[in-house]
Amino acid sequence: MYFYKKEKKISDLFLKNGYFIGQTEDIDSKNQITRLIKRKLHKIIKKNVSFDRLHTKVNKNNINDLRLFIYNEMNKDKRFRSNYFKIARKALYSLAGNELMMQTKINLSIQLPNDETSLLPIHSDVWQGDSPFEINLWIPLVDCNKTKSMFILPQQHYNYFLRALKKYKPKTSDDIFKIVRKKLKWLSIKKNQFLIFNQCLPHGNVVNLEKNTRWSMNCRFKTIFSPYGDKKIGEFFVPITERPMTKIALEYKDPFK
Ligand SMILES: [Fe+2]
Repeated sequence: MYFYKKEKKISDLFLKNGYFIGQTEDIDSKNQITRLIKRKLHKIIKKNVSFDRLHTKVNKNNINDLRLFIYNEMNKDKRFRSNYFKIARKALYSLAGNELMMQTKINLSIQLPNDETSLLPIHSDVWQGDSPFEINLWIPLVDCNKTKSMFILPQQHYNYFLRALKKYKPKTSDDIFKIVRKKLKWLSIKKNQFLIFNQCLPHGNVVNLEKNTRWSMNCRFKTIFSPYGDKKIGEFFVPITERPMTKIALEYKDPFK
């Protein structure tokens, strides 16, 4: 492969682990996103509160309405998606390609401490119909670790997982979780970092047992000419870095027809 040294380093880490944690590439873009979400949060809470301490102002019965309000507002902002992309643009190019599709709406997750209503049991998005060509860019707004973060089954344990599935034939996601529990990696990600992970690998979260609230966003990307799953072009994915030759070729008219 004809990679630059830095690209090779990122690629090797991703192939080995199934994920890559990098430093925010464009701090201004991240700051714009943080300010936007703070403004929207303030509209509801009417008080200054840090993301980490949200649970001191909101209870779990109201959290989903608040999350949906911010989700809708942030996705209405014209620069939000391009800012999101710029936070990890180089890493995405290295890992998925430089001609990309991006999800039309970016997801927001807020997990208050001890709130059992916003859980994501162990799963792979591909089991639920996503294309294995999709990659997930996960960006936190607070420092995340232990149960205030997400877990993933690292790539190096995937063969163990396949063997265990055949042997134990688990029926529920709880059964799957028990089988691989000891092999899971709880990712530690600072708020000035991002995570890119292979969503073919089992991942999820549990009840946040830490003292503070978790805030994170996630968005899928894929290279334009890769197979699609349930999530289609237009309604779910739109091109963001289509290259000139692709545009020319798609519009090419055969002069002899
Ligand atoms: Fe997922």
